[in-house]
Amino acid sequence: MTETSITLSEHNIAAQRAAELRRLLHEHNHRYFVLGTPSITDAEYDSLFDELDAIEKRYPDLITPDSPTQRVGSDLDERLPKVTHPAPTLSLAKAYTAEEIQAWRARIDKVLDTTAAFAYTVEPKFDGLSVILTYTDGLLTLAATRGDGYIGDDVTGSVRTIRSVPQRIPVGGNAPPVPRRLVVRGEVVIHKDDFKAFQARMQAEQPEGTARFINARNTASGALKQLDPKIAASRPLTCYAFGIVDASDALGERLPRDQYAVLLYLRALGFLTSDAVQRFEDLAQVIAHVQAFEAHRHDLPFEIDGMVIKVDDAAIYNALGVVGKNPRGAVAYKFPPEEVTTRLINVTFNVGRTGMIVPSAELAPVFVSGATIRQATLNNFEDVARKDVRVGDWVRIKRAGEVIPFVIGALPERRDGTEQAITPPECCPFCASLVVRAEGEIAYYCSNPDCPERRARQLEYFVGRGQMDIEGLAVRGVRQLMEAGLIRDEADLFALTAEQLAPLEGYGAQKIKNLLASIEAAKARPLERVIAALGIPGVGLTVVRLLLKDFPSLAALQSATIEQLDAIHGIGEALAQTVVGWFAEPRNRALLEKLRANGVQMLPAENNAPRSEVLRGLTFVLTGTLPSLTRDEAAALIESHGGKVGSSVSKKTSYVVAGEAAGSKLEKAQRLGIAVLDEAGLQALIAERLALRQD
Ligand code: IVH
Repeated sequence: MTETSITLSEHNIAAQRAAELRRLLHEHNHRYFVLGTPSITDAEYDSLFDELDAIEKRYPDLITPDSPTQRVGSDLDERLPKVTHPAPTLSLAKAYTAEEIQAWRARIDKVLDTTAAFAYTVEPKFDGLSVILTYTDGLLTLAATRGDGYIGDDVTGSVRTIRSVPQRIPVGGNAPPVPRRLVVRGEVVIHKDDFKAFQARMQAEQPEGTARFINARNTASGALKQLDPKIAASRPLTCYAFGIVDASDALGERLPRDQYAVLLYLRALGFLTSDAVQRFEDLAQVIAHVQAFEAHRHDLPFEIDGMVIKVDDAAIYNALGVVGKNPRGAVAYKFPPEEVTTRLINVTFNVGRTGMIVPSAELAPVFVSGATIRQATLNNFEDVARKDVRVGDWVRIKRAGEVIPFVIGALPERRDGTEQAITPPECCPFCASLVVRAEGEIAYYCSNPDCPERRARQLEYFVGRGQMDIEGLAVRGVRQLMEAGLIRDEADLFALTAEQLAPLEGYGAQKIKNLLASIEAAKARPLERVIAALGIPGVGLTVVRLLLKDFPSLAALQSATIEQLDAIHGIGEALAQTVVGWFAEPRNRALLEKLRANGVQMLPAENNAPRSEVLRGLTFVLTGTLPSLTRDEAAALIESHGGKVGSSVSKKTSYVVAGEAAGSKLEKAQRLGIAVLDEAGLQALIAERLALRQD
């Protein structure tokens, strides 16, 4: 085969794929803009678009005049009056990885022909609708959408109803100077809380019409494009300003021009700007920040799909100019999509520690947020029925942070009739016992209390962090001991010996020593922790503490009646029944006996009265995972010395105690200049103050 023929066939494949992509993109555009019923996510649309764009860049002869890439995402609405933008409205080039951000910077260096340092402003990339606001002599005179970049829709009436858009910018007095004509660019969004409340209201008012409100962005964009501004007024729209497009007259010369200063100026004029904007001196910090921010994207009140990195210095930004429709001085770092669609190929059933049967979806593998997903939870059978998810369906999958992916819903329009309903199994897939449904409950359970899977799950829970906290028995450990026949119940753990462990795979002398030491330490866990670890349905540490307040020993609790427990504030009748029923069960009583016989002390927790007052007047906020204390323990420690534990960071917070994977609370503390301690720092603070007191 000759060289040309290879190239030709590659070209043929590319041509076919390009045609297919164009067809798909046209179809999805139609669904999105005309029918209002998108069947793929924005991220998937972008990925199809990017693929086509890449093919066309490689083989420019394949570009057709009607290619979606040539339309540059026009979202013009024919019913609205049109506005011609004074200059084309630009959009941002995208980067998906640290390397692509570095490549962006490398291109800048090449254009500037230097490697001089400059600062960056990093902002959230709002996932909303871009608007261009024109102020004349301080008055809002025009609001337009981006449209096709050249011509936009006039949405002035709707935008006037948005409270966060100033109708009039204060002029004179102490107000900052305002040019005669000021054009501001911003983004209209709906805050997540507002959207939830709005959906609930719509559900109540017009249950059949709510499917139209697919997500906050579509709802915001739909609201703005109504001819009747009353509709926009009835939707909770918010507008964030993020730039000045144009400032006329001599005054324009005196306005702040660097991006960070522009945002401060806009805020001083009464515009809403995001709190999550930061300025950095070097690119490594920028990259670390945008990557770390992904984990906190949900802490913001609005949806974002990435971060925007801008060269802060206006002189450099302007000198860099424009490539195509993108300014060279800015780039959008896009987060990986959190939602994807794929096929549900099978359903399997898991059994939890209470015996509850949980359906799990087996998926055609998809790559999302940096990992391949093959499984997603379906929660419970009621959920499956409500969402009408079937085997064989195309389903929407969500993966947010570290949470297990779950199935949001099916795409019924992609069905071909071969899909099959999902029904609860009749027998437990692990022990073949009958599956039962408790009266009045939505869940199905394995009826066998000795079901091996159920036992394994309960034992894993028992040894876990926050329960008995037996280090060295992470996930696989418990099952290995069960399979070796060394443990059957919780109490067996406390009778383990070095001789029993030695023959097991992976158990060296040191590991055995560590494990036995941590089991020994667990024997001293207070009664409340032991009971909470037993996995009585609905009975966690908080409930146990309530119970122990009135019935402070195991003997007392075991002999309490339903009426007595029901009388405790915070304990309802159902819970009282569960607790009394659990303690009445002979096997459970035997287990408690055996725990005690094997050395578990089950003593009441130490007196909760403050051990000192050295933290009196101080408020602490806990965030992230501390190396040794659980959150409850850290809070108890602080309170036992007279300190208070708050849930959110404010100027009144004295200290933030931060552990691993600390979130937005840590950032806020840093912003407000509040002292941050780690666990050792907290212990040291208490020790220091105690020492002072004794002096
Ligand atoms: S600056 C030169 N900053 O993202 C273009 N855009 O293609 C000016 N967006 O539709 C954009 N948040 O509406 C900028 N903090 C932010 C933004 C932002 C969202 C939107 C913008 C545009 C798209 C970029």
